[in-house]
Amino acid sequence: MNLEICQLSLAQACQDKSDALMVLVPEAFKPGQDAISALMAHAIQAKDFDGKSGQWLAAYRTAGVTASQLFLVGAGQGTAAHIKAAMVAVMPRIKSGQVKKLTVACPFPLEGSALQALVISLAEASYVYTSTQSKPKPRQLKSVRIGVSHCNATVQTAFDVAKATVVGVEFAKEWANRPANHATPTALGLAAQSVAQGGKFSCDVLGPKEVAHLGMGSFMAVAKGSREPLRFIVMRYQGAAKSLAPVVLVGKGITFDTGGISIKPAAEMDEMKFDMSGAASVLGVFKTLSLLKPALNVVGLIPACENMPDGLAVKPGDVVTSMSGQTIEILNTDAEGRLVLCDALTYAERFKPAAVIDIATLTGACVIALGGVRSGLFASDDALAQALHLAGEEAMDLCWRMPLDEAYAEGLKSNFADVANVAGRAGGAVSAAKFLQRFAKAFPWAHLDIAGTAWKSGAAKGATGRPVGLLIHYLLAQAGRSAAPAKSAVRRKVNA
Ligand code: BES
Ligand code: MN
Ligand code: ZN
Repeated sequence: MNLEICQLSLAQACQDKSDALMVLVPEAFKPGQDAISALMAHAIQAKDFDGKSGQWLAAYRTAGVTASQLFLVGAGQGTAAHIKAAMVAVMPRIKSGQVKKLTVACPFPLEGSALQALVISLAEASYVYTSTQSKPKPRQLKSVRIGVSHCNATVQTAFDVAKATVVGVEFAKEWANRPANHATPTALGLAAQSVAQGGKFSCDVLGPKEVAHLGMGSFMAVAKGSREPLRFIVMRYQGAAKSLAPVVLVGKGITFDTGGISIKPAAEMDEMKFDMSGAASVLGVFKTLSLLKPALNVVGLIPACENMPDGLAVKPGDVVTSMSGQTIEILNTDAEGRLVLCDALTYAERFKPAAVIDIATLTGACVIALGGVRSGLFASDDALAQALHLAGEEAMDLCWRMPLDEAYAEGLKSNFADVANVAGRAGGAVSAAKFLQRFAKAFPWAHLDIAGTAWKSGAAKGATGRPVGLLIHYLLAQAGRSAAPAKSAVRRKVNA
């Protein structure tokens, strides 16, 4: 989808030649002299429309308006949340028609976060999965022009960041949506290498031999039951001086989770192809970084493998030695995410990171706790927790901090190893985080449990691309440049 932004008054919007013209109308709308204003003034006077977010009116071949379809859409107070709600309400109507070329006129000053919400919601509504369709449906919406009342450098920058975020979100969605026979650990490794090539940064993909050499006994135990060889992906984006400590992102890359010998029930097991959504979000973030080139250093680590039952698979009760040296009693082979992540966390130590954030579809318990609205946020460091929480609010990619009291680790005690990989069912999202925390003592650490937010089930089954938006907001805030990519090359790159 082609996305552009320009300065556009309502009078100019009347002459717009798109298939459809959408006008965002705030509650505090002040009508001008143009045809659209007159129409809105009538509708408001007749109390058929008051600009509340989510309200919309459609008109056809309106006098004085060139576009044959006109949508007046309530934008409430023009906040990011109101703009998002407005798009959620009206976009199904646009999509059910024939609109290929859309203009969205916004006749009031739009804040950066609201503009980003607009761009991201438009992209969200237009996305179609294509990878494994024999005749992929093309996107219905081919181009969107956003017309704002004042287009200055700040607005343009917010737009560029949003556009690059969309690319990352869609990359994450496409990879998470791909079925497990297409998104193998090997395929993820190749995807990471192609992202790195496009962004001119380095990427190493380690195989079973190298991983054995590193002593990642916990990761290897999970991969043992599969014919697909594991991959350990190391991506290194360097946008700042080498001396600047990097942020390390660790994405759970279980390309299919059967549960292993502790096998899962058959119903909805297909959804366990999404168990690499954390990995997909890391790939998506690097895709966006390659476009924006912000001044910071980021390392991406992805332990990728399948979790399968097999004659050689790890068995309940097996004890393995992690890279950290800690021994782990694997009481349930379905708690495999923490087993691959713990070795990646130990590996992260070598980068002397400013912060490590792992992203994982880790527990069904987190789905029960928070549903599909907020991701679970666990952090050993208050400043990091606050920054991530704020990034989530600003990106409208929400998360909620959960506790890490020592008492939650009680159930992880083992008679046969340093730690067990499961505790009881109660507080399962927290005990999983407590397990990870044992391997994350060398740096400020946060864990995002995206089990409830990474994909949708049912008729709308599909990946959401979360939490790419949150992570990009967080990283750009770290670079101190969430408002402005400093290099002039950025704009050219993004629009290319
Ligand atoms: N990938 C699952 C978590 C999951 C389940 C995410 C359902 C989304 C929906 C994870 O590997 C898992 O199986 N976790 C177990 C842990 C348990 C055995 C302690 C779970 O949550 O049931
Ligand atoms: Mn599992
Ligand atoms: Zn899993």
